Amino acid sequence: MAPTLAVTFTGLRFENPFLLSSAPPTESESNILRAFEAGWGGVVTKTIGLHPVVNVAGPKTKFLRANPETGQLSMQKRPGSALHSSWNWELISDKAIDWWLPRIARIKQAYPARILVASIMAGSGSDEELRHWQTLAKACQDEGADALELNLSCPHMDRKDMGSNIGKDQEQISIVTHVVKEVARVPVWAKLTPSTTDIVVEARGAFLGGADAIVSSNTFPSIPLIDPDTLEFEMNVDGLVSSGGLGGPAILPLSLAKMAQLTNAFPDKAFSGIGGVTDFSHALNYFLLGCGTVQVCTAAMLDHAIGPHVIASLTGGMVAFMEKRGWSTVDDFRGLRRDRIVTHSQIRRPDAKAYHGGYEGEGYAAGEIRN
Ligand SMILES: Cc1cc2nc3c(=O)[nH]c(=O)nc-3n(C[C@H](O)[C@H](O)[C@H](O)COP(=O)(O)O)c2cc1C
Repeated sequence: MAPTLAVTFTGLRFENPFLLSSAPPTESESNILRAFEAGWGGVVTKTIGLHPVVNVAGPKTKFLRANPETGQLSMQKRPGSALHSSWNWELISDKAIDWWLPRIARIKQAYPARILVASIMAGSGSDEELRHWQTLAKACQDEGADALELNLSCPHMDRKDMGSNIGKDQEQISIVTHVVKEVARVPVWAKLTPSTTDIVVEARGAFLGGADAIVSSNTFPSIPLIDPDTLEFEMNVDGLVSSGGLGGPAILPLSLAKMAQLTNAFPDKAFSGIGGVTDFSHALNYFLLGCGTVQVCTAAMLDHAIGPHVIASLTGGMVAFMEKRGWSTVDDFRGLRRDRIVTHSQIRRPDAKAYHGGYEGEGYAAGEIRN
């Protein structure tokens, strides 16, 4: 049977399991329409709040590149350098809910069969703040949003009751998810921060609150590098920086480790994987760990703002992979490598004969480490 890329995730049918994640590629109606035209199975809007926000003066995102010859890392674009990561300190959408609502309706009218997820964010410090979550959720679903993604993970929020500060508190996660579930008629996904000791704890909070899926990862807290010539941070405003978020290739293995913890702890739950995906071989990791969908940001930002080549390579790569293996749906290989991740003590040691108790040679002998 010819492979199908269609999946059902949290009860929603996707033409393919690839979504643009909540970020600049999904910050406007025109971008989202172009994304659907290019073939993305779903789109998560840039996070929507009740009130407009004001970003820092200066660039909100830049890309760190590695020089393969010298190993130098820099945000300056140099010929022959390879993408290492994105770094951003962008806040949620600078357009408030009133701007978004008619656009959500128009996008759904134009592409009724594609999945439009509204990413929303409010505070959690008072009953009034919690009601804001409900206001946002009801408004977006009334205009046709197919699902809601709760932003519990934005890494640059000063407020203690917002973004990743909620995402670090199992109880707050549970309360916010429950409050949204009280009014939601559509599936509710919780996007968690990777910046905690054991993400399983926070995921349990989300599931207790009624979450239909967990989304991971948002960007990892980080700062830009210091330029050795100027002694200034490569991104700064008036010489100052604050913690921002790292995305792109550098976070693929980090995000996979988080996802492996999640899918092993909750094998029957739904997960959407994000972090460092550019082509199908990257996305495959998330599927093999048990994810039902995969989201992309950095690679799409660098490809005509919405990733027309990225989505073509994801779907093309997936069809070729499935044909080669004789698989017809994602479920044929979803979760296939989940149980290969075990505790360290379960990894085989050399047998007694080959093991010299650490007494032979000192440390790593020269020549033992190869790349
Ligand atoms: C400039 C920028 C802005 C972002 N804004 C949001 C946002 O508003 N809401 C959100 O949930 N995630 C946001 N993200 C995180 C991305 O959706 C995604 O989780 C992260 O970049 C990791 O994916 P990647 O490695 O494909 O970039 C943003 C990322 C970047 C780079």
